[in-house]
Amino acid sequence: MEFAKYKIQIPFFVFVTIFAIISTTQANTIENIGNNTVKHHEHDEWFQRKLAEAYNASLKAYHDDPTEVVDELNRHVHQAFEGTNSTRRGLSRYKGSCKAQNPIDRCWRCKANWARDRKKLADCVKGFGRRTTGGKDGPYYVVTDSSDNDVVNPKPGTLRFGVLQPGPLWIIFAADMKIVLKGELIVTSDKTIDGRGAQVQIADGAGITIQFANNVIIHNIKIHDIKPAFGGLIRDTYDHFGIRGADDGDGINVFASTNIWLDHLSMWNCRDGLIDIVKGSTAITLSNNHFTRHDHVLLFGASDTDPKDEIMQISLAFNHFGKGLVQRMPRCRFGFFHVLNNDYTHWIMYAIGGTAHPTIISQGNRFIAPPDPTAKMITNRNNVVGEEWKNWIWRSENDVFLNGAYFVESGHPLDEKRFKKDFIKSKPGTYVRRLTRFAGQRRCIIGKSC
Ligand SMILES: *[C@@H]1O[C@H](CO)[C@@H](O)[C@H](O)[C@H]1NC(C)=O
Ligand SMILES: *[C@@H]1O[C@H](CO)[C@@H](O)[C@H](O)[C@H]1NC(C)=O
Ligand SMILES: *[C@@H]1O[C@H](CO)[C@@H](O)[C@H](O)[C@H]1NC(C)=O
Repeated sequence: MEFAKYKIQIPFFVFVTIFAIISTTQANTIENIGNNTVKHHEHDEWFQRKLAEAYNASLKAYHDDPTEVVDELNRHVHQAFEGTNSTRRGLSRYKGSCKAQNPIDRCWRCKANWARDRKKLADCVKGFGRRTTGGKDGPYYVVTDSSDNDVVNPKPGTLRFGVLQPGPLWIIFAADMKIVLKGELIVTSDKTIDGRGAQVQIADGAGITIQFANNVIIHNIKIHDIKPAFGGLIRDTYDHFGIRGADDGDGINVFASTNIWLDHLSMWNCRDGLIDIVKGSTAITLSNNHFTRHDHVLLFGASDTDPKDEIMQISLAFNHFGKGLVQRMPRCRFGFFHVLNNDYTHWIMYAIGGTAHPTIISQGNRFIAPPDPTAKMITNRNNVVGEEWKNWIWRSENDVFLNGAYFVESGHPLDEKRFKKDFIKSKPGTYVRRLTRFAGQRRCIIGKSC
């Protein structure tokens, strides 16, 4: 009934902007991996206008006291635990042995009737992305067609057709499917991609780009083996398409976008980054994800010469950084990064890095160092010399260090000066296994808890 296929009657308008040369590759000026074939976009009028509008949106989404958001997320974690032995309320809605220990999961995952109102998921996000509602205010749209043959005029029923619609849309999938993208999937504002109820993979083709968008949820899918797309003509909004340069092959690239929630994704082995968040994007939560088999995992801010990233605010919570990871979990620039209750079980070079004086609040994580005696240090300030980084606020609180792992702190302690005296202590890293055990894409069957 409520999942009746949403049909859009109006055909795409065809506004070709021949000189719209756009690309996301400019995000990688410093640590470039691929070769940018087109760079004219810097001067393209459409692109510049979109960038200016996006920056305004970022200024609005930015929280001028991020420690409030840090405290609030910690409070939610404590409350989720208290609920396990004190509150009987709502227990009947939890089924069997389903256990959800973190506050985001507790909000929906053990409810057998999640599919009856999928949009309730949008009430569950916490952290800097807490205002994200995705496609909650729109109709459902069912992806019935896994093909991606036309990136300018996509076929109704495809994922690409859905993400380009002008209004809010809650996108779900009719069946298990693997989608091989022919070009970057450019996701526009007010969308939810909800993979529950099907096994959905985006793999072996181009990746996802969230560009100049506000309010996007991507939930419960697998994204892996993403390769650089060649570029060419591609539609980037409902009423505009242009020529795009080759991209770098990120799993997800968040470019000049706000209010983004990426939850329960399983991601591995993409060509460039698993997730890159760049160009002043802010108000973002990455939670319950499982990352494996990858070198450059998470990039938050692409350039030391892009101070617009000062307004970047990201919560990274309840994720599992697993087998085969090398570095950048994350690698940060300028902004404010709350790294809470994640399980770091594998890395080869380092876990958390950054340049350009980012603020990194690491709380209640578990860090298990690799056997290599030269890779025990969690933190990496690249080649920046001590005098410069000693004032950067990189603090560790309640983290658990195993196998020789150590965190080199700098800047003010958490409870002094910039930080309120009464800040809420995080749940310690000893709880991390419980908080992250169900990370990654879940097999969610309609009528059963996930
Ligand atoms: C980039 O281009 C240079 C010169 O054309 C080439 O040597 C290099 O291998 C290319 N790099 C990649 C990642 O394609
Ligand atoms: C950005 O915001 C400023 C101040 O509110 C406004 O003057 C300007 O026109 C906005 N720019 C865009 C591109 O929306
Ligand atoms: C939950 O149980 C623990 C241990 O039994 C107890 O210390 C704590 O106070 C309980 N929480 C609540 C909210 O009752």
